[in-house]
Amino acid sequence: MPTDSGVDRARLSSLAARERATFADRHPRSAAAYSRAGHLFGRVPMTWMNKNAGGFPVYVATARGARVTDIDGHEYIDFCLGDTGAMAGHSPAPVVEAVTRRLADRGGATTMLPTEDAAAVGDELARRFGLPYWSFALTATDANRWAIRLLRAVSGRTKILVHSYCYHGSVDETLIVAGPSGEGESREGNVGAPTDVTTTSRVAEFNDLAGLERELAHGDVAAVLMEPALTNIGIVLPTPGYLAGVRALTRKYGTYLINDETHTFSAGPGGATAAWDLRPDVLTIGKAIGGGIPIGAYGLSEALAGALLGRPDLDLVDMGGVGGTLAGNPVSMAATLATLTSVLTDAAFAGMIDTATAFAGGVRKLIDAHALPWSVSQLGARAEYRFANPAPLTGTESAASADASLEDFLHLYLANRGILLTPFHNMALMSPATTLDDVARHHEVFAGALSELMS
Ligand SMILES: Cc1ncc(COP(=O)(O)O)c(C=O)c1O
Repeated sequence: MPTDSGVDRARLSSLAARERATFADRHPRSAAAYSRAGHLFGRVPMTWMNKNAGGFPVYVATARGARVTDIDGHEYIDFCLGDTGAMAGHSPAPVVEAVTRRLADRGGATTMLPTEDAAAVGDELARRFGLPYWSFALTATDANRWAIRLLRAVSGRTKILVHSYCYHGSVDETLIVAGPSGEGESREGNVGAPTDVTTTSRVAEFNDLAGLERELAHGDVAAVLMEPALTNIGIVLPTPGYLAGVRALTRKYGTYLINDETHTFSAGPGGATAAWDLRPDVLTIGKAIGGGIPIGAYGLSEALAGALLGRPDLDLVDMGGVGGTLAGNPVSMAATLATLTSVLTDAAFAGMIDTATAFAGGVRKLIDAHALPWSVSQLGARAEYRFANPAPLTGTESAASADASLEDFLHLYLANRGILLTPFHNMALMSPATTLDDVARHHEVFAGALSELMS
């Protein structure tokens, strides 16, 4: 019987069983590697790697450009790209050269001393995103944590406001959703929370300015931490005027605005901030800018940097909560400089966005051909389909359109035919190495999946 997703559940379940069996048959070495990893917690080096539709992860042998091979000898077109960490493509030559030069020729992975590369990275980030002062972390999660601490300190306010079903890393303050009455409540999966999240946070729905104003009017929100478009519950794009409204309301209520561009960087060389002419007080980012090497970064506006530096009581050079021994290390800096100047260039973004437009257009056509009630959203080099039409306008609506069994089937069907999507959703990301032929191959396989589902 068809459900809201428009597919017959009995057919879906029998096709999914067939694909699971095929996956097991095709991956005996990955299965064996997984069973041998008994001293890893959950058998994986990071527990999220257990989020896979086949019962065990594919083990990587090689990864170059937009291609991954596994230890069973299969090759994949990789549209997951490390869930954006490898948006520059796997091991791009300029990054490999820069890291090798730093690590092998000159030496020094971690020094607690600056290299000249760091200032050049700061210059380039300032040029792209428009914020003049930059500091570094090793992950985007940490960049967000540090931004939050600084803004609490400088504003004297206690709360952080986020959007329902946002994701900004495992930042305690962000694990809140809007409950049925719109009141904030702890998000499912908020494991080991240090305190009731409603004491540290407020929440509003994306695209809801009235809801945002209601929360900001309490006068206790230090900062709104947001993605200019939600990207972790499908892609939820802003409606016209929404982002300008957020900026106006944050100014009206004396609340700082943080744009988290970790994923929305796909919108262009300066992320959504430059593409849509946004003016945040802080911009956080990570993942792709390091070309695969760990990095997080946050940029501060002139006024905010001045306010922070004008507060000698804020212990910024020692225990002030802004730390990370390996942050700003020479290898991260060399990799990021090479990524920004030679890989994720303005010209590369133009190509990646064209490829994503072809991806989104082809998927839309196939969905329409089967009259499925699904929608496709694109944010620059990133595209994603959702099992709802029209595309959801809030995180809560988008969460309600999830269909885990259907998603698992599609992921497995694609993986069994040499295509990887992000396991957490139906996101496809284009790197500079991704070609229109890769997109065409995806569409051929996706068309097969839909035909079997709908026949
Ligand atoms: C918008 C956003 N911010 C922050 C993060 C956290 O990045 P990391 O896991 O590299 O700390 C993510 C991860 O998916 C993200 O999507």
